[in-house]
Amino acid sequence: MKTAKIIIDDREHEFPLVTGTEQERAIDISDLYAKTGCITLDNGFQNTGACASAITFIDGDKGILRYRGFDISELADKLSFVETAYLLIYGSLPTIDQKSLFSRYLTENSMLHEDMIHYFVGMPPRAHPMAILSSMVNSLSIFYPLSFVDDENPQEFDRIAARLISMIRTIAAFSYKKSIGEPFVYPRHDLKYCMNFLNMMFSSPVKPYEFDLEAERVLNKLLILHADHEQNCSTSTVRLVGSSMVNLYASVCAGICALWGPLHGGANQEVIDMLEDIQRNGRKVKDVIAMAKDKTKNFRLFGCGHRVYKNYDPRAKILKDTCATFLAGRHANDPLLSIALELEDAVLHDDYFIERKLYPNVDFYSGILYRALGIPSAMFTVMFAIGRMPGWIAQWREMHDTKPFRIGRPRQVYVGPAHRSLP
Ligand code: SDX
Repeated sequence: MKTAKIIIDDREHEFPLVTGTEQERAIDISDLYAKTGCITLDNGFQNTGACASAITFIDGDKGILRYRGFDISELADKLSFVETAYLLIYGSLPTIDQKSLFSRYLTENSMLHEDMIHYFVGMPPRAHPMAILSSMVNSLSIFYPLSFVDDENPQEFDRIAARLISMIRTIAAFSYKKSIGEPFVYPRHDLKYCMNFLNMMFSSPVKPYEFDLEAERVLNKLLILHADHEQNCSTSTVRLVGSSMVNLYASVCAGICALWGPLHGGANQEVIDMLEDIQRNGRKVKDVIAMAKDKTKNFRLFGCGHRVYKNYDPRAKILKDTCATFLAGRHANDPLLSIALELEDAVLHDDYFIERKLYPNVDFYSGILYRALGIPSAMFTVMFAIGRMPGWIAQWREMHDTKPFRIGRPRQVYVGPAHRSLP
């Protein structure tokens, strides 16, 4: 076992060096405080690994993303979102029987408890779909009460996982119908996951949805690309909340709230707002770039930059190509795509972005595809959450199965007032 040595007050301490599958290395400081009386400090956890995980691998320098060892481009081309969800949660591609059972659980758990519908009645029509989603997902603990997870009853976990993956889709579609004042369209047992969602979104009593296989294919790809991404902000939230032994619904609800932030999953909506602002106000790309570089301005180029990727986000590359082919296939032309391509070109040739290794990330092009599917920008982060649900469940299960089971509780360095007495 190789070790790292730290010298504190002239005393040398050794700590094991851990090496991962892809030769990435970490210093195991599990007994740092016991040995040295010191803790570490790492703003934003830029250098801190929270766990060892076998689910997703990212090489930020090379722009590599793999789920359970399979490259994201291969999965996006050849698998369905449901098969990808199974792979992430259970660690292997499903056999025919496993896929059939998983699909049955998804179908059996696609309908919301009818009393949950009353929640929607009370919500204002302009309520943000992410606020609705987090409320409704947390309400699953009311309608489907469960304890942590019963190790002796793994099938219970399978049903809970399927219920979350299936119902988040129904809740999303119902929140859209609520926002446009149309009656809810219930899930159907004869439709696959993505087509069921499109039908719930775009069918109405006066005009049934005309099944669009190309839209179904693009939606599958979008959801696969969002399905997991290591220990990002929302996934770390799910793990931390789950480590208190609260149930899975409450844990992923916390993840939904974390994802909503504009620096995280909320960026996809910010990107479209930014592109529409450029188009509406006839802004010049070079002025937008200048604004993004100006520290006196409270403006960031949404959809650009990443904590881990210091190269082009492989998901952005796939989405950019998919935008071009999907729009061309419909003989559609979205002026926002032209603006996005011009922005990207400016970023890739500007020293400020090059020096900081800032590239387009998953959120840069995803909104253009969602728009082309007819999904409103207020729902873009909800779409991200639908895709990320299997990843959150997989990571929560891995955390739950890690022994010894420990609650997550980071430390701190206190810099407040020294001890003092009341006047
Ligand atoms: C997602 O972690 C994940 O895996 C997340 C995600 C997933 O799948 O779960 O990939 C999904 O959240 C993608 C990111 C979506 N967010 C955005 O697109 C928002 C815009 N991007 C940034 O705010 C930023 O790049 C972050 C939040 C993504 C990353 O922030 P970091 O790693 O903390 O980097 P930083 O803020 O310290 O920036 C480093 C430098 C700074 O400049 P200097 O102080 O060195 O001069 O780069 C600059 C920043 O000002 N910078 C940007 C910028 N992003 C970073 N400047 C202008 N525009 C930007 N977008």
